[in-house]
Amino acid sequence: MLIQSITLFPEMFDSITEYGVTGRARKQNFWQFKAINPRQFSDNKLGYIDDRPFGGGPGMIMQAPPLQAAIDEAKKNTTGNSKVIYLSPQGTLFNHQKSVELAQAESLILLCGRYEGIDERLLQHSVDEEISMGDFVVSGGELPAMMLMDAVLRLIPGVLGDIQSAEQDSFSDGLLDCPHYTKPLEFQGMTVPDVLRSGNHGLIAEWRLKQSLQRTLARRPDLLEKRSLIPKETRLLQEILAEQREIQS
Ligand SMILES: C[S@@+](CC[C@H](N)C(=O)[O-])C[C@H]1O[C@@H](n2cnc3c(N)ncnc32)[C@H](O)[C@@H]1O
Repeated sequence: MLIQSITLFPEMFDSITEYGVTGRARKQNFWQFKAINPRQFSDNKLGYIDDRPFGGGPGMIMQAPPLQAAIDEAKKNTTGNSKVIYLSPQGTLFNHQKSVELAQAESLILLCGRYEGIDERLLQHSVDEEISMGDFVVSGGELPAMMLMDAVLRLIPGVLGDIQSAEQDSFSDGLLDCPHYTKPLEFQGMTVPDVLRSGNHGLIAEWRLKQSLQRTLARRPDLLEKRSLIPKETRLLQEILAEQREIQS
């Protein structure tokens, strides 16, 4: 996969191209990265690509022509149809399902806004999709773009050492992940559930599934409403509800 980012701060992307799982995967050629700085398409000597908003008001707006030139440049590097995604607080909320969909793409172009945002005409003309990382505003699209990239890249086969670890993560099967423990056995007066040290893989798998269901019910009941349960999960959920009724009575 080729990911291209249109950004005023290409160096920020070092944190995803150089470090950790995504950095290793890039070095092993599972994905490639290219940053395109729209300043190189500025029409003035100082490299400005922003101007004051028509109608007045605070802040600056990124201009359409240099961003269009950057998108055109990015498209030259791709063979197929590369989706242009604008990271924006006004976009559709990002989630696991969207990361699965984007992981199928051969290339992506991620447009990172700054200042008060981008001239609306560029968005209408050249952006295929707007994606938000949540109902809050950050200063630029770079961190949201890197979050999207990380979530997408870890789904590409080979990027994670052990593909099972992505499959076991929260949301991948519509449930939150179960709790995890490692050494030491004792910490702050707390120990590790006996079952995890029993060596009985059937019991461990069932305990983990029950914990996942319990957590999802407590923290994200909306996920359970959207998901159909297999008979084993229905049985475990009934057990959980019965245990909860017993505690309350
Ligand atoms: C200060 S914000 C501009 C916010 C804009 N005035 C608005 O209220 O919609 C600058 C840039 O940060 C990025 N950004 C901010 N919050 C974001 C979020 N929740 N998700 C994705 N991108 C975001 C966008 O690229 C945006 O153009």
